[in-house]
Amino acid sequence: MLLYKPIMRILGIETSCDDTGVALYDAAQGLLSHALYSQTTTHAVYGGVVPELASRDHSQKLLPLIEKVIEDAHISIESITGIAYTAGPGLIGALMVGACFAKTLGYAWGIPAIAIHHMEGHLLAPMLEDPPPKFPFLALLISGGHTLLVEVEGVGHYKILGESLDDAVGEAFDKTAKILGLSYPGGPALAALAKLGNPKRFYFPRPMTDRSGLDFSFSGLKTYSMNTINETLKTLADKADVACAFQEAAVDTLFIKCQRAIKATKLNLLVVAGGVGANQRLREKLKELSTLMNISIYYPRIEFCTDNGAMIAYAGYRRLKMEANSDLSISVKPRWPMDTLEK
Ligand code: KG4
Ligand code: ZN
Repeated sequence: MLLYKPIMRILGIETSCDDTGVALYDAAQGLLSHALYSQTTTHAVYGGVVPELASRDHSQKLLPLIEKVIEDAHISIESITGIAYTAGPGLIGALMVGACFAKTLGYAWGIPAIAIHHMEGHLLAPMLEDPPPKFPFLALLISGGHTLLVEVEGVGHYKILGESLDDAVGEAFDKTAKILGLSYPGGPALAALAKLGNPKRFYFPRPMTDRSGLDFSFSGLKTYSMNTINETLKTLADKADVACAFQEAAVDTLFIKCQRAIKATKLNLLVVAGGVGANQRLREKLKELSTLMNISIYYPRIEFCTDNGAMIAYAGYRRLKMEANSDLSISVKPRWPMDTLEK
């Protein structure tokens, strides 16, 4: 018997890549529960994500994770009022698994299932923290697939100021890590190795900072790392020095472009989200930026920088509040420009 019918209680489902994330968000009570299954061990032997294996893993793990978050939150299924799922961008098979689960459960439970843009999920993730950032703000979205500087006026009001013309910054971390012989996932492994490096030994270029504009390019930095490794000895200390130089260059490039965007927009609030937002060196550098430019910086907690269900549940709550419609057709978008989202 249901005693309390919440106004809005959303189940969030994230399956765009190699993390199966599920969460429950309640409009009145906030985040009720969340669970994540990381497929790292499945893909590690191949040195990167194998899309077919990712889809299979998602389909096996989703139901137990959904049961877990419902149990952890001590709520009844009848009290859930909507389902949010990542519809893109991402791996098409992986997205299809999440979309099919969400649409089927929505139909069975008689509640709407709403399609969420993965990067909007990342962008809104800091709103799960206390205090949340207030609109308008500048967002630096840095993940394995995207590097975006976005002027954000409100939910759906996104003006892309700059983006990567080739590799995303997370992708550059991953590829450079692979060149250094580090195991997948490369970003955190490279960051850990960089801590042991000598920052004064190599100076790598800061790509596209010598010309105006807010776009990025990170693929050259990866090649620069490879050439440096080929020219030097291959001891662990050498590799640590290269990791350190790469990280300094990547982080400094993000710093310079954020500083430029703050000057251009005159916004005094910066939101940083996406997997690379977990990088400690980046956080240190951006702290310097916050002092220098007198701005506030908001991050999600570390575990919500990388892919998770909580950000999708929260984005679903914001979107359903705006009465976004939801039909039963299942459509996912492996490519989906963020500035085409409904306002
Ligand atoms: O947001 P995310 O989990 O997935 C995508 O939407 O792509 O981001 C994953 C990316 C990967 O490239 C990973 O190597 C990177 O974020 N990453 C990091 C760190 N933690 C995750 N890169 C640098 N330093 C970290 N600590
Ligand atoms: Zn992501």
